[in-house]
Amino acid sequence: MPIISLSLEEKLLERFDKKLSEKGYSGRSEAMRELIRDYISEQDWSYGPGDSVAVVNVLYDKEAPREAVSGIQHEYEGLITTSIHAHLDEENCMEVFIAKGSGKKLKRLIERIKGVRGVKQVKYVATASGI
Ligand code: NI
Repeated sequence: MPIISLSLEEKLLERFDKKLSEKGYSGRSEAMRELIRDYISEQDWSYGPGDSVAVVNVLYDKEAPREAVSGIQHEYEGLITTSIHAHLDEENCMEVFIAKGSGKKLKRLIERIKGVRGVKQVKYVATASGI
């Protein structure tokens, strides 16, 4: 196994080490291998030649114009196969949906939703569908 070295700001390294110890990693190498695998996977679903699938989780302010999120969903209805709405509490709603299409289109859809006023957080899990 090749050995590589990298330079980091001390503060960043301290924060990284703290996270590793919280998560119970046995060492930095193990964590770096995981990060590199995630990065490669991320690049593959984004720019791979085939379709990808994304599960997108949108947390937004209940008072936000719902039409904005659902409007985008309608715009991308060819990609979105499933959608679930949950009223979380007095302030927040959550929309979870599954979309399938080229990584480029899925990324665009996610960026559009992130840009909606009142959207607090967008998280997603994506994978190349041909795996
Ligand atoms: Ni709601």
